[in-house]
Amino acid sequence: MHNKSLFLMAKAIAVTAFVATAAFAMIPQSMAYVPLPFESAENVAQASVYRANCARCHGNDGRSNTKEGRRTEADDLTDESVKNMDAAKMSRIIRNGKGDMPGNKKLSSSQISALVRYVKSL
Ligand code: HEC
Repeated sequence: MHNKSLFLMAKAIAVTAFVATAAFAMIPQSMAYVPLPFESAENVAQASVYRANCARCHGNDGRSNTKEGRRTEADDLTDESVKNMDAAKMSRIIRNGKGDMPGNKKLSSSQISALVRYVKSL
C-alpha cells in the first residue's frame, strides 16, 4: 500500500473515532441510565410509573409517610393486606380511585398490572 493511502486510512479512522466519542458524550444522562444489577428492566419501568403517579402520597417505599399521604390518610402499601389483595380488585382501585385517592384512567391496562406487581413487591 502507498504511504498516501495509509495516511488517508489513518485519518479516516481518527475522524470516525472522534465523531463516535463526541456522539457518545452527547447522550443525555437519562438515556445513558444503566440499571443496577438487581434491577430488572421491568422493575425499573414499574418503579418509574409508581414514582410518577403514586409516590407523592404513598412514598417511594410505599409506607405513605409523606405530607400528602398523612393528609389523605393513605394506606400503608407494605401491609400484608395489600400483598394479599386480589389483583383484579387492586387494579380497579388504581384505575377508578378510592376515597381521597384519585383514579388513573390514563394508564394502560399493562401499566396497571405492572403497578399491581410492583405494589405487591414493596
Ligand atoms: C392523592 C393521594 C394518593 C395517590 C396519588 C395515590 N393514592 Fe393510593 N390511596 C390513597 C388513599 C387516601 C387511600 C385510602 C382510600 C380509602 O380507603 O378510602 C389509598 C389506597 C390505596 C390502595 C388500597 C389499599 C387498601 O388496603 O385498600 C392501593 C392498592 C393504592 N392506594 C395504590 C395506589 C397506587 C398504585 C397509586 C398510583 C397509581 C396510588 N395509590 C396513588 C391516596 C393516594
